[in-house]
Order: sequence, then C-alpha cells, then structure tokens
Amino acid sequence: MPKDNIVAGIDIGTTKVVAVVAEVMPEGRLNIIGLGETPSGGLRKGIIVDIENTARAIAGAVEQAERMSGCQVHSAFVGLTGPHIDSLNNRGVVAVTGEDGEISLEDVERVLQAARVIPLAAERRIIHVLPRQYIVDGYDGVMDPVGMCGSRLEVETQIVTAAGAAVQNIMKSVQRAGLAVDELVLNPLASAGAVLQQAERELGSVVVDIGGGTTEIALISQGSLWFASVLPIGSEHITSDLAVGLRTPIVQAEEIKKEYGCVPADAVPDNEAVEVPPVGGREKRRVSRKALATIIEPRVEEIFTLVRRELSSAHFQGLLPGGVILTGGGALLEGITGMAAEILAMPVRLGWPEGGSGLADMVAAPPYATAVGLVNYGARRLAHPQAAATRETGWENFWSRLKSWWRELF
Ligand SMILES: Nc1ncnc2c1ncn2[C@@H]1O[C@H](COP(=O)(O)OP(=O)(O)OP(=O)(O)O)[C@@H](O)[C@H]1O
Ligand SMILES: [Mg+2]
Repeated sequence: MPKDNIVAGIDIGTTKVVAVVAEVMPEGRLNIIGLGETPSGGLRKGIIVDIENTARAIAGAVEQAERMSGCQVHSAFVGLTGPHIDSLNNRGVVAVTGEDGEISLEDVERVLQAARVIPLAAERRIIHVLPRQYIVDGYDGVMDPVGMCGSRLEVETQIVTAAGAAVQNIMKSVQRAGLAVDELVLNPLASAGAVLQQAERELGSVVVDIGGGTTEIALISQGSLWFASVLPIGSEHITSDLAVGLRTPIVQAEEIKKEYGCVPADAVPDNEAVEVPPVGGREKRRVSRKALATIIEPRVEEIFTLVRRELSSAHFQGLLPGGVILTGGGALLEGITGMAAEILAMPVRLGWPEGGSGLADMVAAPPYATAVGLVNYGARRLAHPQAAATRETGWENFWSRLKSWWRELF
C-alpha cells in the first residue's frame, strides 16, 4: 500500500501512458501534485505487446510526474484493460453461525468466499470481487450486514476476471520500470469514479471510455459496478479509416481528425474544405469536411452499435436514468455525443474528470479520466485500508478486516 498520504496512478493506454501523483488531504480530498505523459507504443487494443517499450514509457511518465511533484514514486495503482476482461454476477449463501443470530465479520467473510467460487479456466485471474448488496433472511438492499440479526446471509457480487498472461505482462512492465503495483484496477471502473456525479452512480448510468485502441464500458447502479466490458475498437480506427480514405499518412490523418473531424455527415455544410497532404507527394488536395465526416461516421456508428449490443448482453433489468457518460480522448470528436444518444437511445453527456485541487486543471480532460480515477481509487484505499479487498492477492488479510467499505469505492 502507498506510504504516507501520497498516491500514484498509472494508466497504460494504447496511445499514451499517464502517471498522476496526488496528495490525499485529511478530509479525503485529492490534491494533484504531479503529472507525466509519454506516448506508449508497446500496446495494441489495450494489450501489452512489447514489455520493454511499455516499461520505458511508464518510467518516462513516472519520472516526469516525480519531477513535477518533488515526490519519489515507489508504487502505483495501475489500470487494467483489454478485450479479455470479463465480468459476471455471482451469489453466495451461508448460514449465520453466531449463537445469538448476530451476523459477524466472519459470516461476511464466508459469504464472500462462497460468492467467489466460480468455474474459472486455469489462465484466468480474478481482479475484483465487488459486493453489490447483501440479503439477510430474504430482505435485500442491505449494505452492511455486520451486527444485524438473521439466520441466512446472501451476497450478490460482480466478479471481474482477466487473462492471466495480460495481467502478468502489466505487472512485469511496471516492475521493470522500477515500481511496485499497489493494486490493479479495471480501467472503466477507475474512469467511472472520476467522471460520474453522485446521482448518476446511484440512479444508474453507463460510462463509455473511448480510447485509442479500446472502448471501455462500465454500468454503474446503486453505487456499484453491475457490468463491465472492453471492446477492441477505438479512435485509432477512425484515424486509420481517414488515412486510407484520404490517402494521407497516419500522422496527418490524426491531426485532421482532431482538428476538423466531426459527425454526423448530414450536419456538415457542403462549403467547408480541408487541405490534405498526400502519401509521398507534395501537392495538397482540398477535401470537403463533409467527405471527412462521411468516412468517420460508419466507424462511430460501429462503435456505438457494439456498445449497445454489450449493454443488452448485460441483462440489466433496472433503468439507467443517468444516461451515458462519454469520456476518453475519442469522446472529443465533434458531434459524437449526438450520435451516441441516437444509437443508444439514452441521454449522453461528456465526462470531464474532477481531480480535486492542485494541478487538477491539467488533468481535467477526457483523456485523463482513467488516470484521475486511479488516484481517486488509491485515495479511498488510503482512507479505508481495510478495503484491500477486491484483488486476488491479500485475501487472507482482507477477510479479517472487511467492512462495508465498498459503498465508498467511488
Ligand atoms: N479532439 C479530438 N478529436 C477526436 N479524437 C481525439 C481528440 N483528442 C484525442 N482524440 C483521440 O483519442 C484517442 C486517445 O484517447 P485516450 O488518450 O483516451 O486513449 P488511451 O487511453 O491511450 O487508449 P486506450 O484506452 O484505448 O488504451 C486517440 O485516438 C486520439 O486521436
Ligand atoms: Mg484509455
């Protein structure tokens, strides 16, 4: 666990690695004191494919953040993503053992252990076991059952699993950069913690983080995670569509996308044009902005159609009045919220991470949602050390110290 009141978060993204260092103030507020960012290059679709390159990028980002903050970073909360992520519901049931029928920490420990028993392929790892609610003698909606009376204790949990090899490669990359991993945290869970308002967390909402190589989804309701998924498609696909469609180098296609890209095509006036440098040639061509939008639109449509499919596979019975909160760098594409709202048939807003005080303004942009969420998560761990609960390691200690910290996770 982090020492003193300093926490660090590392978001190892497909396009960039971000390190954020924050001070946790006595009242739990975050004071961001360091930020470092380096291009990644060692990842594809959220998965590490080159450990050396990734380790170098991590070390570079951390060094910048250390220099800015004047603090040495020894360990960090590290984000985990990739299409190998899976999330499933599981229930645990036990009989309350105390003579007086009072539910003890040990009973909660046993019921969580029972919920954790799932058929798991040898190469899969459990990343989070997130209790959603306890049920005491059939009465649901219990947040903290310790001390209550009853004879039957049940728990509903959301279990997040990942491919063991991907987990090992992240651990290796971070360790090779000279750091220890405080905890691995599911990326969209971190992003959700940074961009959701309290009411959205409670009422039900969906965070969609569109990065370079992935689109990460987290469905949050009643303050906890109900579903998570990672799609192997992101804003880099839009860039390569533009590069192919306009016959221009990737670097220029990326610039054009950020500067002039927009959707939907039918909302763009006919008379706006953009200069496009060709591959290998000198003469720039003029291309209408509408033509750009026509290239971009099908990919955006594809992304949200896939998001819609994922959400329907979540079998979430409740309502989602909080709507969709779009974040990640890809959310900055002009007009994307309108298209998302149309395809998902839900209200959509852009999610800007709130990082507290200090250098918070430097990270107050959608590409930093995950990194800010990671330090947020770390700060809550610092405030509730007994909450070292959701990870694979440390279960032995956790069981004896568990409290109903999980409502505070966000
Ligand atoms: N203004 C903008 N308009 C359109 N796209 C943008 C804009 N700014 C950034 N992007 C896109 O956002 C993507 C990067 O987003 P982000 O930094 O969230 O990704 P990442 O976290 O590195 O990747 P991932 O989460 O997929 O691993 C890039 O593809 C970039 O082109
Ligand atoms: Mg990302």
